[in-house]
Amino acid sequence: MSVEHGLAASRRWLVTGGLGFIGSHFIRIALAEDPELEIVNLDALTYAGNLMNLRDVECSSRYRFVRGDISDPAAVKAAIDPGVSAIVNFAAESHVDRSLIDAEPFKKTNVTGVRVLLEAAIAARVARFLQVSTDEVYGDAVTGELSEESPLSPSNPYSASKAEGEALVQEYRRDRGVPVLVTRGSNTYGPYQYPEKLIPLCITNLIDNESVPLYGDGMQVRDWLHAEDHARGILHVLGSGVSGNAYNLAGGNSCTNLEIAHRLLGACGRSPLTHLRHVSDRPNHDRRYAMSGAKAHALGWRPRIPFDTGLSETVEWYKSNEEWWRRIKRGEFTAYWERQYGARFEERA
Ligand code: NAD
Ligand code: DAU
Repeated sequence: MSVEHGLAASRRWLVTGGLGFIGSHFIRIALAEDPELEIVNLDALTYAGNLMNLRDVECSSRYRFVRGDISDPAAVKAAIDPGVSAIVNFAAESHVDRSLIDAEPFKKTNVTGVRVLLEAAIAARVARFLQVSTDEVYGDAVTGELSEESPLSPSNPYSASKAEGEALVQEYRRDRGVPVLVTRGSNTYGPYQYPEKLIPLCITNLIDNESVPLYGDGMQVRDWLHAEDHARGILHVLGSGVSGNAYNLAGGNSCTNLEIAHRLLGACGRSPLTHLRHVSDRPNHDRRYAMSGAKAHALGWRPRIPFDTGLSETVEWYKSNEEWWRRIKRGEFTAYWERQYGARFEERA
C-alpha cells in the first residue's frame, strides 16, 4: 500500500513516541512506503522507549530523533520543523497495571501532553493531527461489537487518561478548528513489545522455564491485532480518514487470555500443568473488548496478518532476539543506553 493522502504538499511529519512498540513499527513502515517522507521522532525515552527499536532507520537522512517530553511546550516547539504537515501522537504511558499504582505520569503524558501537541498543531497549521487511542476507552463490551458512536466508559486510570486525551482532541476540533483524527486500536502484539505486556511476558517467561501468571480465571476476552497491521491502519486513516472522525482498528482475533496462554505454552513446548498459574485478578478488570471494524474497512484498510502466523512469528522473534529483552528484564536497560549513547542523544537533538 502506498501512503496516498491529502498531505502531498509536504511530506514532513512529527511522530511522537516513535521509540516505543507500535510507533517504531509505524515509522519503519511509513519511511519504507513513501520515499519522499521525512519524519522527526519526538520521544522522551521513558522506560518503554528503546533506541534498538529503530536501529535500522536511525541513519536515514529522512529520519531524525529528538529526545523530549510532549508535555513540555519548549521541547515540542524545538522538534517541529518548518513545513510539518502532520502530527501523529503515539507517545503515552501505556500499561494499565502501572496506572493502578500511580496515575500521575498518565495524566501528564496522556492528557497534558496531548494539549501541548494540539497547541503546537495550531501554531504549525498542520493539515492532520492524529491521536492514537485505544479500544480500552469503551470499557467493557458486555455483548456485541461496539461502534465509533458507542459511549466511552473507561474503567482504569490508563483508559480514563486516554479518553480524556480524546476529549481534548475533539475540543480543539470544535473550538480551534484543528483537523483531527482518532484511531482506536485493539490489543496489539508483535516484535519489540515491552515484556510487561501479556504476550511478550508469557513468551519470555516460558523461554526461561518460568510460569505465566494469568489474572483471575483467565476468561477475559481481548481482540488481537499485529503491530504492523496497526501501523498500516494508522497510515491509512492518516491518508484517507475524514477529519473529525474516530476509527476503530479491530484485529478480528478475539480470544480469552487463557487461550492465548495455551497457544504460547504449546509454541514454547511447555505444559499448562507446570507452567500456568492463576494469580490475583487486576482490580476492575474489563471482561471483554470487542469493536466493529466496519468504518475503517470502508476506508480500505483490513488487517493482513493471520493470527496464527503473527503469533508464531512473534514467538520466533523473541527466541531470536534475547539480547533485546534480557536487558529489559534485568532492569539495566535505560542506564545502559544512557551510558552508551548519552552524548549522541544531545548531538542528534
Ligand atoms: P509503548 O509504551 O511501547 O511506547 C510509548 C512510547 O512513548 C515510548 O517510546 C516512550 O518513551 C514514549 N513516551 C512516553 N511518555 C512520553 C512523553 N511524555 N513524551 C514523549 N514520549 C513519551 O506504547 P505502545 O504500546 O507502542 O502504544 C503506543 C500508543 O498506542 C499509545 O498511545 C497507546 O495508548 C496506543 N495503543 C496501544 C495498544 C497496545 O496494545 N500496545 C493498543 C491500542 C492503542
Ligand atoms: O486494548 C488495548 C490496550 O491493550 C492498550 O490500550 C494498552 O496500551 C495495552 O497495554 C493493552 O492493555 P491490556 O491491559 O489489555 O494489556 P496487557 O498485556 O497488560 O493485558 C492483556 C490481558 O492479559 C488483560 O486482560 C490482562 C491480562 N494479563 C496481563 C498480564 C500483564 C494477565 O492475565 N497476566 C499478566 O501478567
